[in-house]
Amino acid sequence: MSSDLNLFSPIQLGAYTLPNRVVMAPLTRNRASEGNVPTKLNATYYAQRASAGLLITEATQVTPYGQGYPATPGIHSPEQVEGWKLVTKAVHARGGRIFLQLWHVGRISHPSLQPDGVLPVAPSAIAPTDGEATTYEGPKPYVTPRALETNELPGIVEQYRQGAVNAMTAGFDGVEVHGANGYLLDQFLRDGTNKRTDAYGGSIENRARLLLEVTETVVGVWGADRVGVRLSPSGTFNSMTDSDPKATFGYAIDALNRFGLAYLHLLEPSEADERHGGTSIPTSYFRPIYKGNLMVNWDYDRDKANAAIASGAANLVSFGKLFIANPDLPERFQANASLNEPDPSTFYGGDEKGYIDYPALELQVS
Ligand SMILES: Cc1cc2nc3c(=O)[nH]c(=O)nc-3n(C[C@H](O)[C@H](O)[C@H](O)COP(=O)(O)O)c2cc1C
Repeated sequence: MSSDLNLFSPIQLGAYTLPNRVVMAPLTRNRASEGNVPTKLNATYYAQRASAGLLITEATQVTPYGQGYPATPGIHSPEQVEGWKLVTKAVHARGGRIFLQLWHVGRISHPSLQPDGVLPVAPSAIAPTDGEATTYEGPKPYVTPRALETNELPGIVEQYRQGAVNAMTAGFDGVEVHGANGYLLDQFLRDGTNKRTDAYGGSIENRARLLLEVTETVVGVWGADRVGVRLSPSGTFNSMTDSDPKATFGYAIDALNRFGLAYLHLLEPSEADERHGGTSIPTSYFRPIYKGNLMVNWDYDRDKANAAIASGAANLVSFGKLFIANPDLPERFQANASLNEPDPSTFYGGDEKGYIDYPALELQVS
């Protein structure tokens, strides 16, 4: 069934009325300052993109133990909260709305990124098989993480709660729980990484428990109408596997219905996922299961996004690489204007170059 809806139809997203459905996807850019503190440079970058219906920040660790890459911002220290205030103020001054993505990388970290050089934590002591850890000293082989004790898990949930509280102090409009892409919550969810025998492993219900507890806690801080959750059912990034992703994610997504979240954010399968032998499940498979607003992502362009929204396959679409290269992406989509090309060499780390210097459309005065 098709409708007249498109990327420029306003939408009620939980507590907010968005002027459009062009969302900026969460994008790690590794440009936080000493102490993983956001700066004026980061504020400029986000403010340039404030015409998005919603901005979602780069993944932001809720604890120093949750960091997996150099110069990613945190939301656990007072200095970081002050740094983020620069960002939220700048975005609000331009009329935008911004959610913080709450992150813990679990096994994707490395002792050199950990306080006191300890082992990263994970559901089970299983190292990622593909790729290498990204450290301040360059790539290093992944280590086998330490399996979290059952009695440590309330402490993990507490780190997300404190992160959510700090995000509120920093002036955000809401938060997104990062349950995607092979980080801690995803590691618990899938049976390739979770071999636990306690109440957080084994059955699908048990594997989804940490995600649901974190979501419930964050909803307790913010209210469900200011919280989103991101999941990647087909994702193989970070050596992720699951023996039955339709069942695992079908259960988790149905269970999320109970909260009445602002949105669920799902990634489509990618070519890389197919190459890595993953089960490709398009987000349309989960559409009938999820009762609220569905945001979809991966390789969407203007026409594909408009078609997904018109058909009801999605309510909103987030854009990653196109938003890196086009600060005024909504205006360009609306004008059907040409797009700047993203430069991958400046994605992760560096300075202004490839960050705040992509040009907006020239104002045409006729
Ligand atoms: C430079 C870069 C950084 C990313 N960082 C994050 C992140 O912090 N959190 C996250 O959930 N996804 C992250 N992703 C994935 C994007 O949000 C998005 O899923 C991906 O780019 C596909 O969307 P696109 O085809 O519109 O670019 C990142 C992707 C890129 C290219």
